[in-house]
Amino acid sequence: MTIDLDRHLAEAATSVAAVGDLDALRVLDGELLGKSSVVTEARRGLGALEPDERKDAGRRINEVRTELERLLADRRATLEADARTEILESERLDLTELDGGRRLGHRHVVTQTWERLEDLFVGMGYTVAEGPEIEDEWHNFGALNFPPGHPARDMYDTLYVDHGEPGSTLLRTHTSPVQIRVMETVEPPIYSIMPGRVFRSDTADATHMPVFHQIEGLVVDRDITFGDLAGTLEAFTKAYFGGDFTSRLRPSYFPFTEPSAEFDIQRPDGTWLELAGCGMVHPNVLQAAGIDPENWSGFAFGFGLDRLALMRHGIDDLRELFRNDLRFLGQF
Ligand code: DAH
Repeated sequence: MTIDLDRHLAEAATSVAAVGDLDALRVLDGELLGKSSVVTEARRGLGALEPDERKDAGRRINEVRTELERLLADRRATLEADARTEILESERLDLTELDGGRRLGHRHVVTQTWERLEDLFVGMGYTVAEGPEIEDEWHNFGALNFPPGHPARDMYDTLYVDHGEPGSTLLRTHTSPVQIRVMETVEPPIYSIMPGRVFRSDTADATHMPVFHQIEGLVVDRDITFGDLAGTLEAFTKAYFGGDFTSRLRPSYFPFTEPSAEFDIQRPDGTWLELAGCGMVHPNVLQAAGIDPENWSGFAFGFGLDRLALMRHGIDDLRELFRNDLRFLGQF
């Protein structure tokens, strides 16, 4: 046998190392191990050898073949890894490069307010709950102690949904129905806030929008008093607006609370601003949600969330929050 397998192996190693892509490697694989390869030729030549020569030559051919396979496999692994890296690099997005006038986005000022309120109440031990935006008449009104035909229903310019019995399905006019949903599903003690979007058939102006946001609060526990409500709202005022703000409660009326109050804050300049409705949860409401008013009492409050955002940032037109003008939103 005249084939110099050592030299062949050395040359093959050089060729394998020089291959630059997987297609070329496949071709080379065929050349080095296929039907007309040097190792296959050598194996064919074995038959012409003397038996003892044949044994040594056969072993050497196998060693060379194994070594060639290893070289090819190593090179394939390297090329495959390179190809993956190349894909990753080519698909990479550089989000730090803000040329061409692009700016980093950020949360909408209403979302910021929403999240800040959540953080604040979660810090006071409250959980966050949500309910559906399309509600039934019972959760939005009935269970909240608005009897059918009660004039208090007219306080809300309700948008009805054409579904089921006329008047049975609506876009929730406030977040208070979520109070009922929470009480229906959670055993007291309850310390929850319920932020969300609400709807009324109002014409847009500087202080009204047909879609806006509220955040509801509900506490149900043993021996909850009006003092707990006042203390909670005062703690909220200081935490949200700062130590130089204070709050007061003024008598008011809501069907679902008794007594009911308006919650006002006093700004450092001495002026008052109405922020929320609140009160002690009416026994009829506890009962409607399956909670025994003999054993449990509670308070509730409802803030206009957009209003808080306006207040905090000194914005004077509610409509700005919904125009999506980046020059405006970029300021917050
Ligand atoms: N749901 C009332 C509204 O939209 C606000 C409100 C008042 C919520 C008093 C309450 C409350 O939880 O106790 O006008």
